[in-house]
Amino acid sequence: MAEQPHVEDRSGAPRPAHPDAGAWDGFYERHGDLAAASRRRGPAPQDCDGTATEVVATLEGVTGRPLAGRLAVEIGCGSGRMTARLARAFGRVVAVDVSEVALERCRQRLGDRTDVTLWHGGAELLAGLPSRSADWVVAVATLQHVSRKEEVLSYVAESSRLLAAGGVAALEFATASWRRRRRDAVVDLSRLLAQRGRLAAVHPELGLPAFDPHWRGARPGESELLSAASGEGLTTRVCRGELQSWLVLERLPAGARSR
Ligand SMILES: C[S@@+](CC[C@H](N)C(=O)[O-])C[C@H]1O[C@@H](n2cnc3c(N)ncnc32)[C@H](O)[C@@H]1O
Repeated sequence: MAEQPHVEDRSGAPRPAHPDAGAWDGFYERHGDLAAASRRRGPAPQDCDGTATEVVATLEGVTGRPLAGRLAVEIGCGSGRMTARLARAFGRVVAVDVSEVALERCRQRLGDRTDVTLWHGGAELLAGLPSRSADWVVAVATLQHVSRKEEVLSYVAESSRLLAAGGVAALEFATASWRRRRRDAVVDLSRLLAQRGRLAAVHPELGLPAFDPHWRGARPGESELLSAASGEGLTTRVCRGELQSWLVLERLPAGARSR
């Protein structure tokens, strides 16, 4: 019989809470399951919206690789839309998120799996994993919401470090496109009107009321993201969509030569 999985948390010395933990906890308390909310619009090509099955198809499409291996690292797992799916495809999953409320929902969703480790915090936690240990690193709908640019770049640098030979990372980020700027402007206007009590603010992507300023992260440019990715045998490319894009990092298999 297959081993029954379970969830463990990272233990250790007390450390200060992530600066965005409270904001994201509040977000989950107010809005419930973001994954369910994101279904309202339906997925656009290359977008993160959709069911886990749709996101898997997107991940495999942008990387050209099957989602499988020994270890997957998930950045910003939220309430676990992808986590259980990753657990079925990998021997082990390590998932991090700044929101304890989201992690608690993720835990409930996972049941008693033993092959998923949930870490509460941000990019600094990834230092706890050995270099070249991960077959996949995924960040679905997360980097575009991280509030500090250094932390986004740190996630990219850590993903590069973590990739094993033959490993791949698919890190989603917001495209600096005209459509994205127009959508951001609608969000800003809606929030401004809501603050002045003129309108109930409605997030144009999710249809959720009273979204937080946190929703929009620091969003470093594509060239900054690309230059944060470095390491021997690492190749980088961007799979660009109108609203969301994917930074794809690949570490060449052992013995292969870079061109
Ligand atoms: C839009 S949700 C996406 C959740 C999940 N990846 C999904 O696709 O359903 C963004 C997630 O990023 C998390 N987050 C925000 N800043 C973070 C950070 N610095 N490090 C890790 N997670 C972060 C939030 O708590 C939230 O769960």
